[in-house]
Amino acid sequence: MAPTILITGSTGYIGGTVLDTVVKQHPDYDVTVLLRNVPDDLNERYPNVHIVKGDYDSTDTISAAASKADVVVHNGNSDHEPSIKALISGLVNRSDSSPGFLIHLSGTGIVADWRTPDHLGKLNPKIWSDIQDLDTITTRPDGELHRNVDKIIQTAASENGEKLKTAIVCPPDIYGPGRGPGRTQSVYFPVFQKEIETVGAPFYAGEGTNTRSWVHIEDLMTVYLKLVEAAVAGGGGADWGREGYYFAASQEASQIDIAKAVGKILKSQGRIEDAEPKQMPLSTVRDMVSSWGIKDLGAYMFAANSRTRSDRVTKLFGYEPKAPNLWETMEADVLACLK
Ligand SMILES: NC(=O)c1ccc[n+]([C@@H]2O[C@H](COP(=O)([O-])OP(=O)(O)OC[C@H]3O[C@@H](n4cnc5c(N)ncnc54)[C@H](OP(=O)(O)O)[C@@H]3O)[C@@H](O)[C@H]2O)c1
Repeated sequence: MAPTILITGSTGYIGGTVLDTVVKQHPDYDVTVLLRNVPDDLNERYPNVHIVKGDYDSTDTISAAASKADVVVHNGNSDHEPSIKALISGLVNRSDSSPGFLIHLSGTGIVADWRTPDHLGKLNPKIWSDIQDLDTITTRPDGELHRNVDKIIQTAASENGEKLKTAIVCPPDIYGPGRGPGRTQSVYFPVFQKEIETVGAPFYAGEGTNTRSWVHIEDLMTVYLKLVEAAVAGGGGADWGREGYYFAASQEASQIDIAKAVGKILKSQGRIEDAEPKQMPLSTVRDMVSSWGIKDLGAYMFAANSRTRSDRVTKLFGYEPKAPNLWETMEADVLACLK
């Protein structure tokens, strides 16, 4: 029988690209998507994909769908607790005696240093490894970004033994065009472009040397594909449960270098008069992106460090990022924000 795969969040940037990747690479898999909004052309684009209608609070629907899946790839909202609990409940109640696999999308916000003032606006020398720092990453304080759901997954994995195999994919900032049926843009550039146009110039706080890791969406997809294939094959060749924690970073960039590059692009489009980055008070940067309702989110987005090294995928899968780098795709990513 064909392996059954349930994919959530597939009208989103990451989940949509996961759907497109899995369907194209494995037409032999039996794929179902859970969606609250079904794009008009979904059937035409993916004629063999089954659709379950529901949102992340439709917990009975989610559990039922997960109970029929061999592998669940959960995307879309890394912090939503009812949906992850429902997926886990479905997977551990599968009629099949083989393990159910959960591949969950988290994010490196969990190791970002935005909560303390020490390195805001300046380089933090700490680079996190998903092997050497695993103990610290998997015991981050409750308030850190994405920790609530990471914790639910890690607890469920330790309680359910061979019945449930989990992997947490923890990408840094992602760039490059997605190719799913809905959103095809990542989050950083639209948010930065909007704030730049409000300020009237590209900006940074402090020295602007705070640095974050990045990955191209296509390089991230090589990680997803390896994990889905390993799950379908019964789990061999990948780590699951406590060790199933995967960074995917391929490069780094400082806030000031990004500000310089985006400033030039926006000036060339007549969107701002001065391309030169402006130093902004940290207190002003902190309050940016306020519409998201997360206190100090501006500090996370523009003044924090989040530096990660993808040791696990390198060790297990021989990960070699091949996609164009951040600077090569930046113009297209920024121009896409202006459409
Ligand atoms: N993009 C990045 O750079 C990045 C990096 C690391 C981690 N992450 C994390 O990854 C997650 C997804 O990011 P993304 O950029 O792919 O987001 P996105 O493009 O906004 O996609 C969100 C997806 O989740 C679905 N969704 C959200 N809430 C839902 C609900 N209550 N019920 C049903 N479906 C729901 C959306 O469906 P609709 O189309 O119906 O709205 C859409 O399919 C986020 O939690 C983010 O923090 C993102």
